[in-house]
Formats: sequence, C-alpha cells, structure tokens
Amino acid sequence: MGTSRVRKVCIVGASGKLGQYMVRHALERGYEVVGVCRERSVPKLAPFEGRMTVVPGPTDDPDVIRRAVAGCDGVLTVLVPWGVRQYASGTAQAVLDHAAPDARLVFSCGWHITRDGQDTYSRTFLLAVRVAALLGRLVRAVEIDDQVEACRRVFASGSRWTVVRGSSLEEGESEGLPVWSRHVGDPVLASNLTRRVDFALFMVEALTDDSLVREAPAIVGRRSPSAVAHGSGGGSGPDAGPGEHA
Ligand SMILES: NC(=O)c1ccc[n+]([C@@H]2O[C@H](COP(=O)([O-])OP(=O)(O)OC[C@H]3O[C@@H](n4cnc5c(N)ncnc54)[C@H](OP(=O)(O)O)[C@@H]3O)[C@@H](O)[C@H]2O)c1
Repeated sequence: MGTSRVRKVCIVGASGKLGQYMVRHALERGYEVVGVCRERSVPKLAPFEGRMTVVPGPTDDPDVIRRAVAGCDGVLTVLVPWGVRQYASGTAQAVLDHAAPDARLVFSCGWHITRDGQDTYSRTFLLAVRVAALLGRLVRAVEIDDQVEACRRVFASGSRWTVVRGSSLEEGESEGLPVWSRHVGDPVLASNLTRRVDFALFMVEALTDDSLVREAPAIVGRRSPSAVAHGSGGGSGPDAGPGEHA
C-alpha cells in the first residue's frame, strides 16, 4: 500500500450499479463523497441522502466535472460506452482536465481495453466484442471505440491514473479484493468472472495503493476457480503471492 492520503473523493457515474457500490465502500472508509450523475438518475442515490453531495449533470460536461472534483484527492470514474456522442472520451477528458494534478484518478472499463497490446484474447471474446461494437453502432446505442479512445487519453496523460479492467460481472456477496494481472490471457484470469461489489472494492482500494499508479490491472474474483488454482490466498496483485504473475 502507498502513503497517499485520501479524504475527499468524487465518483463520476455514481448512480449506476458500480457507482453505488463505490459510494458505499468510500463512505465506509470515512471519505467525504461527491457523486456525479445524470439529472434524471439523482433519485437512485436517495439511499445515501445526507451522507454525500450530488452534482447532477452529464459526466462529459467540463463545467459539471470541474465543480464536482474541486478539492478531491481522488476521482473514481465509471467509463461507459453509451450513446454515440463520445460520452466516454468526453468524460475522461473532463476528469483529466479538471482534477488536481496530484489527485489519484481511477477509471473503470472492460478487458477489451489493452494498454500495451500484450493481452491475449480468446476467439470467443474477440467475436463478442466485435458483435457488440457493430450492433451498438447500428442501433446508435453503444460506442465501444470511444471507450478505447477514452483509455488511450488516460494512458497518455501525466496524471496518477489507474485503469481497472473488469472481467464479466455478477451480483452477489463480496468475496474480497479481486486478484489481478497486467495481461488478459494470464491463466489466473481464466475464470473471467468478478462480483460487481468487488470490482468497486478494487477501484476504491486503488486510491491508496501507489503500486497501482499507471497500471491497467485486469481483475478476476479472488474465489473464482482460476484465481484459487493459481494461489490467490496471498494477496491481490502480481507481487502478492505465488502464481499471480503478470
Ligand atoms: N457489465 C459488464 O458485464 C461489464 C464487464 C466488464 C467491465 N464493465 C465495466 O464496468 C463499468 C460499469 O458497467 P456496468 O455494466 O456495471 O454498468 P453500471 O455500473 O450500471 O453503470 C452504467 C452507467 O452508465 C450510465 N448510463 C446508462 N445509460 C446511459 C446513457 N444512455 N447515456 C449516458 N450514460 C448512461 C449510467 O448512468 P445512469 O445511472 O444515469 O443511468 C451509469 O452511470 C463500466 O466501466 C464497464 O465498462 C462492465
């Protein structure tokens, strides 16, 4: 773990499933929480009323983000490929432009994002991504390429970023901090399944884990068969225990 001190965090995309879990984890740690979500989604944050500040508005609006991240030591951003108006890259750019230069920035995405081209994907996975991208574009609902662009900008930035690459997700009780690898294709990740609550846990933990600065960990549930088979008992990252190597 690092020495970073975190007191106030902004959660961009707080009203979604991942966002709400992150709000919960952040409040449990005693952080002051500011959440950003679309105006129509504010009621979804009613369970946290009085315990967090909500800044309503589109997450790619620079003015909304500027107000929300003011004074924050950390920013947790849910990058989503919804719509066909560069929502993900606009959101990432607004955070990169307006967060404090030394703030910890943690972004979410999926395994399909590659930082260095060293990930190896199954044919089924690649096909699923291609079909989703094509269908999404056809119905003008999803823009996978823009999530790729968003991450490209984050990787190129000089900020203290972490891009957390989620496997397939499921609901359920927490199993603890997911294990991770630098590259998809590592056998430890083969199960390709993480509890959403633990994806959120990893994002929040990353705020204070300096070993994750400028890393793009691909995660998997610590009790998933592949993680167990490769010795997830020792910790959560490549240096944490036998078998968890990138
Ligand atoms: N789902 C998966 O299987 C999976 C797998 C791997 C990685 N991930 C990653 O996990 C993160 C969370 O994904 P999730 O699937 O679990 O979803 P989620 O947490 O429910 O988040 C969805 C987000 O998208 C927003 N949204 C929905 N429709 C929108 C629209 N038309 N325009 C703008 N924003 C819209 C939601 O805002 P509102 O609350 O305002 O609707 C919410 O903030 C993402 O970074 C995703 O890439 C997901």
